[in-house]
Amino acid sequence: MNLGRKIYCRVFQRVFWMALPFLPYRNPKLRQSLGQIPDILQEEKKRKPLVVTDQNLVKVGAVKPLLDILDTAGVKYALFDKAFPNPTTQLAREGAAFYRRHGCDSLIAFGGGSPMDLAKGIGVGVVRPRTPLEKMGGILKVWRKLPLLIAIPTTAGTGSETTLAAVLIEEKSRHKFAINDFPLIPRYAVLDPVTIHTLPASLAATTGLDALTHAVEAYIGNSTTKETRADAKWAVKLIFENLDGAVNHTSTQAEAAMLEASHYAGRAFTRSYVGYIHAVSHSLSGQYNLPHGWTNAVLLPLVLRRYGKAAWRKLGELAICAGLGKEWESRRSLAEKFISAIEEMNRKYGIPDKIEAIRREDIPQLAVYADKEANPLYPVPVLWDAGELEKIYEEVAL
Ligand SMILES: [Fe+2]
Repeated sequence: MNLGRKIYCRVFQRVFWMALPFLPYRNPKLRQSLGQIPDILQEEKKRKPLVVTDQNLVKVGAVKPLLDILDTAGVKYALFDKAFPNPTTQLAREGAAFYRRHGCDSLIAFGGGSPMDLAKGIGVGVVRPRTPLEKMGGILKVWRKLPLLIAIPTTAGTGSETTLAAVLIEEKSRHKFAINDFPLIPRYAVLDPVTIHTLPASLAATTGLDALTHAVEAYIGNSTTKETRADAKWAVKLIFENLDGAVNHTSTQAEAAMLEASHYAGRAFTRSYVGYIHAVSHSLSGQYNLPHGWTNAVLLPLVLRRYGKAAWRKLGELAICAGLGKEWESRRSLAEKFISAIEEMNRKYGIPDKIEAIRREDIPQLAVYADKEANPLYPVPVLWDAGELEKIYEEVAL
């Protein structure tokens, strides 16, 4: 990246960092059980939520406990179960029309990242019916209070229940973009381990590695605060201690710990941002419909190694908090231990180090998307432009 643009990026990031204490970030109120949802609705004086989920969660019966709780409490609701991986702006518009048609006054998002993103997109569509959603990509473009949103994650990974982002796809171009604004932060997050108890091992692993990517990217970036550093470290520690247990469902405690880790990683990155792993990952999953956590996991060790010396100190600190090394070891060796431990996790969970779907001719455009998403916003340890980002795609392509 040329010097002029580098200066622009760093000044932009510094201004955002300085503005952090003045921005209306808030944490969702936490609840630990699905059984508390009717009380939340009553307290908030809501009479008809729209439950946003996906067909698969309905089919496998995962959403039934929630619907039973609502039925037993006599809560009327409408069900929009059309979420699919990488939801589109068209689907969010359809959901907003469904919300209005059924006279809903609140939203319950039940699922992984996709139903959460969709529910937020629907919320935006409800309060901004005249503005196309794709025009709200970027930051601070919504400026309206969204309907009450209760988020129930059914994977321990996205942290979407605490973030201000909705990631959607513009259907024609397949361009993945994010709407970022404070009203999108859910009011409540319900972290009930029951919801991840039957998660297939591969999904538990890739979503857990997504959470790890959030914590790592937030921590090694230049826009951290005391709180986000503590949140990210706590998440990393919990993930290294509990991911195996949650993947193999050996204990409810490990599942609860992974939900907590995902939540704290979400808190860290919603304030301190992610980095090039997410920017590259978004372009790939948008273009080839690949699962977000999986592409992140493939890219994570590779990009961390490419950052080189600039990330050693912070990666070393994370290595210590993951129990991989001791204070007195060199930063370089600690950073290498951390990256190697991630590679080892990838091997254990069957995650490859190459992405077969990448077509070489797509790389320049994908790199432009990643550049556009990351620069100047993401406070990454080393700045790369589209040309430099192309090297990551080249390295990961077969
Ligand atoms: Fe992510």
